[in-house]
Parts: sequence; C-alpha cells; structure tokens
Amino acid sequence: MNIQSTNSAPESFSADAVAVVVSGTDDLKALNEAFGGQLVALLEERGFKGKAGSVEAVPALGHIGARHLLVAGLGDGSPADLMKTAGAIGFAARGLKVDHLAVDFGALGDAAEDVIETLGAGNYRYNTYRREDARKPAIATLTLLNAGDLPSGFDTRSNARMDAQSLARELVNGPAADIYPATLAAAAQALDSIDHVEVEVISIEECEKRGYVGIVAVGQGSDKPGCLVHIKYRPPGATGHIALVGKGVTYDAGGLSIKPSSGMQTMRCDMGGAGTMLAATKAVASLGVPVNVDTFLGCVENMINGNSFKLGDILTYNNGVTVEIHNTDAEGRLVLADCLLLASKTEATTIVDAATLTGACVVALGPDYTGLFTGDDGLATELQSAATSTGEGMWRLPLHAPYNSMLKATWGQIKNVGGRAAGSTTAALFLQHFVTDEKRWAHLDIAGSAFQDSKNGHWEPGATGEMVRSLTRWIATQA
Ligand code: BES
Ligand code: MN
Ligand code: ZN
Repeated sequence: MNIQSTNSAPESFSADAVAVVVSGTDDLKALNEAFGGQLVALLEERGFKGKAGSVEAVPALGHIGARHLLVAGLGDGSPADLMKTAGAIGFAARGLKVDHLAVDFGALGDAAEDVIETLGAGNYRYNTYRREDARKPAIATLTLLNAGDLPSGFDTRSNARMDAQSLARELVNGPAADIYPATLAAAAQALDSIDHVEVEVISIEECEKRGYVGIVAVGQGSDKPGCLVHIKYRPPGATGHIALVGKGVTYDAGGLSIKPSSGMQTMRCDMGGAGTMLAATKAVASLGVPVNVDTFLGCVENMINGNSFKLGDILTYNNGVTVEIHNTDAEGRLVLADCLLLASKTEATTIVDAATLTGACVVALGPDYTGLFTGDDGLATELQSAATSTGEGMWRLPLHAPYNSMLKATWGQIKNVGGRAAGSTTAALFLQHFVTDEKRWAHLDIAGSAFQDSKNGHWEPGATGEMVRSLTRWIATQA
C-alpha cells in the first residue's frame, strides 16, 4: 500500500473515496454545504450517531472530489476507538472497490501505525477461489488528510506488518488440499531470500532419526509426510535473542479420536500458529529488527489410516518425558513439545508459542481474544502492552501449577489430556513440561482469534492473522 500524507479539505480532495471521522453530524458543516445541505439530513435519517466502528457510505454524485464519501464515527477518540473505526473504513472501502482512499482522522500522532494497519486488516479479502470478475481490489493508495506529524519510516513498518498479516491469512484460509506440510514448509523456505535468514526443513525421516516423536506420531496417519521447519534469523549487531514456536497442523480430523463432521469444517485453520510465527518472522527480518530469532514450526496432518497413532500409545520425548495418549485429537501439544524442546536448546532467552490449541479457549474467550499463559509477569506485561497498542485482544489465563495433577498418567509420566475442567490451562501445563526453567516462556492459544466463523466487526469470515502485528511489535522491544 502506497501511503501518503497531505493537508487538504476532504470535500476538495480527489480520490475514489474520502472518509471523514466525526463525533456527530455537527462536525460536517463544510461537507453538508458541499452536498447542498442534504448530507446531515441523510445521516440523521440513517441514525448515524458517531459511534466507534460505524461507517455510512454516501455516493458523492459530483458534490465532492471523490466518488464516495464515508462518514465514520470517532467514538470517544481513544486509540482503541480509532482503530475500530479504521477497520470498519477499510472493510467498507473494499466493498466499494476503492483503489485510492483518502481518510481524515485528524492528527494521529503515535497511534498512526496501528490505525493504518487496522484499516488494512479490514480491507483484506481472501480471493483465491473467487471468480475473477467477483474480486474486489485492495486499496492501492492511502492518503492521510490532515494527519499532523507522522513518525519517520512509519509506512515501511506498517507495510511490513500488513503484508505479514495478509500472508498469515492467505496461508490459514488456504484449503488443506493446497496447504499441507510440504507447501507450508515451502512458504517458510521463501523467507530464505531475506538477508540474514536461513531456512532448514527437517524431513520426516530425519525427524524419526532425531526422535521428534510428537511430529512422527501425529503425522503417521496421513499420506502427506510431516516435517519440522527451522527458520534462523541472525541480523548483524543483534542484541537480543528470542525463539518462536508454531503449531502447524495443516488439517485436524482428530485422528482415531475423530472429530464430528461439524468440528472438522474449519480445521484447515489448525496451522494458524505456524502461519502466525512464519509471518511474524518475515516481518521482523524484512525490517531488519536487530534481534536473533529461531522459529520452529511443527507441520503435520492429523488424519486416519491404518498407521494412525493410537490411544494407549506412549511417546518418549527427547527430554525423557513419557506421554500416554488418551485422545489423538489433543495432537497440537504433542507436536509443539518437539518444537519447544528445540527452542529450549537455543541461546534464546524467551520463547513464545502460538497454537490453535483448545476448544476450551474458544468457549472461554470467544473470537475476540487470544489466551495468554505464562508464569512470568514481566513477559505478560510486555506481550499485553504490544497487544494493547495493536488493538488485538489478549487475555491472561492462569497457568495454575496444581492442575498438573490432572495430567498424571498411569503407565507414562503424563497424559496428553486432562479432564473437561480447565482444558486450556491443562494444555498449557502440558507444554510447560518441554520448556527449560531458565527460559522465559509464554503460550498464546489462538483457537478463537485465528479464525472467524462468520463476519465479526472488520473481519471477513476466515483467517484473521491476529498476533502477527503484536508479536512483530513485541520482538522489536527485545533488542
Ligand atoms: N485444533 C483443536 C482445537 C480447536 C478447536 C481449534 C476449535 C480451533 C477451534 C485441537 O487440536 C483439539 O482438537 N483440541 C481438543 C482437545 C481435547 C481433546 C482435550 C479440544 O479442544 O476439543
Ligand atoms: Mn485436535
Ligand atoms: Zn488441533
């Protein structure tokens, strides 16, 4: 997206659409005049009250320089409300096939990047399987009107984060017939072209040799071989080192503990954690953020065939922990365990994982929040402040050690499921067995936030790419 800034009155600026952000119809004197005194009456007729996230599209009919006028609500003017409105403007602009959008938010200051990026998130559509003539183009040029002083280089940073978020959404929206372990690995391999990035794809045969038992067991019921992807980013002059881990279950049928048909409908989303971490790594590397990053993606399909892993199987991980399988649909944690063990062996001081891990998290938080689990209050604050800045919902849930008793196994050391109680917490506690104590560690359960079952606010149905921007921002603070 080409981003420009200029001082001009919205009524005279020429673009496909011009958007104004107002607290009510009183703020529309000049535009109302341009519309021959009809605009305020029309908006009142439609019940426009200046609420955050409300957008009224009005055909300009030659009254102003643009083809369409978008009148959007300012809400209380807080950054959170501005982002909500920006997302709604982006969404509306896509519907109107706007190539060049001009927006008058007034002075944006430090909120500029997150407001622009939320607008971009609302503007996204998944088009791959739409008829050519049914596709609507994304905004190519965004002109900020009267935005005041903008942070230097804001457009480069915003574009890197928006592109990365869109990449995550393309990968997650892609049907499992297109996105399977080998193609997900190929998407990661494409990062090779960025300076100081190296990508290694560890084949399933090599995973077997190295004892990555979770990836091997979960993937063995599929005709599509799994793999483990390691992306290494080593910028010159790096002063921090983090590791990212992503769940890359490209399809989750549940295995022998098979899901009901309805539960399988959207399970192509189950590589959302890998898509998120791949994209966040791409954003920081393309921006040259001076932090070393090791990213591990566990890529498998959880399917059923004569070789599927079974209930009662016991997996022995490389740290000696033995895991008794009580439900093959609790597969994400098995795959993440191998990746967390590898992340623990790096020089990283902090590990963050992202996974569409539990239905329980969707029940608890719904689609608007990512669940955050960590025993480190400082890390919780860092991640939550990044998420507050980007406007992405993140809510901390307890990593309550006493519930480890729910994971106690009979023959192995731990079971791969607890009971129905505290399902997201017991999943997080399971993961903790594979992270060494010296590392700071946080787990993001994106089961609700990675994928919208139906339109929600500025999200079209499907992948959101949430957490890509928050993580990218957070990583930059680790230098
Ligand atoms: N991928 C699912 C979790 C999920 C559910 C993601 C809904 C997105 C939307 C995960 O692998 C799973 O099946 N979890 C089980 C765990 C249970 C067997 C302990 C679940 O949540 O039901
Ligand atoms: Mn599952
Ligand atoms: Zn899963």
